Amino acid sequence: MKRLFKGGRVVDPANGIDGVHDVLIDGDRIAAIGRDLPVDGAAVVEIPHGLVVCPGFIDMHVHLREPGQEHKETVASGAAAAVAGGFTAVACMPNTIPVNDDANVTTYILAKAAEAGLARVYPIGAVSRGSKGALLADIAELKQAGCVAITDDGHPVATALLLRRAMEYAGMFGMPVIEHCEDPSLRGDGVAHEGYHAAMLGLRGMPGACEALGVERGILLSELTGSAFHVAHMSARASLRAVRKGKEAGIRVTCEVAPHHFTLTDESLASPIPYDTNMKMNPPLREAADRDAMLAGIADGSVDAIATDHAPHHYDEKKVEFDRAPFGIVGLETAVPLSLDRLVHAGLIRLPRLVELLSVNPARILGVRGGSLSPGAPADVTIVAPDLHVRIEASRLRSRSRNTPFDGWQLQGGVAATIVGGRPVFINSDAGLAV
Ligand code: DOR
Ligand code: ZN
Repeated sequence: MKRLFKGGRVVDPANGIDGVHDVLIDGDRIAAIGRDLPVDGAAVVEIPHGLVVCPGFIDMHVHLREPGQEHKETVASGAAAAVAGGFTAVACMPNTIPVNDDANVTTYILAKAAEAGLARVYPIGAVSRGSKGALLADIAELKQAGCVAITDDGHPVATALLLRRAMEYAGMFGMPVIEHCEDPSLRGDGVAHEGYHAAMLGLRGMPGACEALGVERGILLSELTGSAFHVAHMSARASLRAVRKGKEAGIRVTCEVAPHHFTLTDESLASPIPYDTNMKMNPPLREAADRDAMLAGIADGSVDAIATDHAPHHYDEKKVEFDRAPFGIVGLETAVPLSLDRLVHAGLIRLPRLVELLSVNPARILGVRGGSLSPGAPADVTIVAPDLHVRIEASRLRSRSRNTPFDGWQLQGGVAATIVGGRPVFINSDAGLAV
């Protein structure tokens, strides 16, 4: 089937395109992009004024919880949340039960994703068996089964030697090592950012230096091995400083920032709801200077990607004392409104840069298809409605979990439609698009 998107603003930074164009989709591929393309038997979709056609967004850091914790999320419910949030693809972390450290688990996740038929799902394998930090996982096997990167996310890789070996092997297969940067000895049993608010609330703290030490270690080992190193969920200004220096030195380091780290600070630990466990994640919400550094890095190009660290947890698990609650919040369905509102409408970046952060760079870092609307590319398209007024409602999320700190937030900007392999898999009835 052919579909012609007519007359919308198209933002495709990989091809230097930002203007009114038509986009022709033939089956599961982009067939052509240009002005006044002939209809030629295609179903015509008029793009209402104000909507923007972009290459599909890719969230390179999500936790899908299947196998093992299906009460929090399944591959299918996570994929539904992804497409409702404007993501045509997600990369899922290996901290499932069992851990994705062998081909069986990878194959299982891919089968569940195919069954769901919504977003593309790219599994990320473990660095070490069981992510326990003792023995390297079989990285060749993971790659062959379909993993696009390796990480022990949830924890840092246990030793520098293991991280070095992981980089050497992953490098041979062209995969990046994604690191949850944290020095365990400095973190201790911290549950929140070390600072004024944690102190006032009597919460044990972990400083930004704890993350930055992990970033510095990874950058040094990336220099040593020549392999690609990606910093997950960066939150601390000292980490950004290290990444900038690494990039300047020509080291293959990239980084992502999660929306909660560019919108919230540790002040949210105290108000409006003190000890709100939906403000608990790792790395933690940091102080304003860190949040502002993340915004500056997003604006000046030092930050490569926006990734959600979508970490669903069940209500009962979160409804406990702050100390005892698991780390993490859901993010798939709030990332695009938060980014449009706080980055684009705030005047910090323009739409093409946002598309780089959400599509071009994640595709490049993971080495997956997507990130452009080039003819011949998979027809993965996100249509955004930058001026749509959106109210985040936890009770209406597609995710199986509701642990968001953004419940009730009113934001400017939303998703109009999500198209995967030429198939519309999400249409927002509020955005005035008839696909
Ligand atoms: O907040 C987090 N939640 N940080 C992590 O590193 C792990 C994640 C999870 O799996 O819940
Ligand atoms: Zn992590």
